[in-house]
Amino acid sequence: MNPASGMETTQQKTPHEILGVIFDMDGVLTDTIEFHYQSWEKLTLEMGIPFNREVNDTLRGLSRRDSLMQILGDRYLPEAKIAEMLERKNRYYLDFIAEMTPAHLLPGVDDLLNELRSAGMKTAIASASQNVRAVIPRLGIADRIDVVTNVYKVKRSKPAPDVFLHAAEQLGLSPNQCLVVEDAEAGVEAALAAGMWALGLGPVERVGAAHIVLPSLQGVKWEDILGKLHTAV
Ligand code: G6P
Ligand code: MG
Repeated sequence: MNPASGMETTQQKTPHEILGVIFDMDGVLTDTIEFHYQSWEKLTLEMGIPFNREVNDTLRGLSRRDSLMQILGDRYLPEAKIAEMLERKNRYYLDFIAEMTPAHLLPGVDDLLNELRSAGMKTAIASASQNVRAVIPRLGIADRIDVVTNVYKVKRSKPAPDVFLHAAEQLGLSPNQCLVVEDAEAGVEAALAAGMWALGLGPVERVGAAHIVLPSLQGVKWEDILGKLHTAV
């Protein structure tokens, strides 16, 4: 093995080295997926564009603009109209997040964050959402998160690794010291491309590429996650 090769070092990683956990936000910490769905549904109804929950599920992890492009398919609209629609969708979405409270944390998140603090793990949130700084304070978890970032701080959105690499850098950790928790196919792909550990939440059809997959964080202990990672490698 050549220790000078970053590539091979990444392949030699073991879960023993994990010192930080990088969370996706939407669909991992909080179920904003439903709010995104209702906001897109309102917009597409107004525009007479077909949309349903199945399409919404393919938008997980994509930026707002990438989501609209996916919804539009090969329909052509001028840039000014696209910008107006993006702005309108976000207005609908902001109405939903204005009502959010710590009760909107997904089951298991609060306990896991406490455990990570006790275990001395560093924590970050790396989201595709431009609204990350509006959502996090509403969830009452800011005191247990060291770094909050999103894809607007980097060049490329998920599935590119940029936002996770940026979060790791901010935490002062190398990629192999980080575990990413994701609910999106694009997010798992981004975590693996970053050379990080990946925990996928949801069906294997969606997040099966991750090192380990769980239905949710409900009742999940930090030692369970580490144990599963050890048996997965
Ligand atoms: C998350 C969600 C996506 C959403 C994106 C952008 O990744 O999973 O469904 O489109 O964030 O969110 P924003 O708050 O910027 O519209
Ligand atoms: Mg997500």
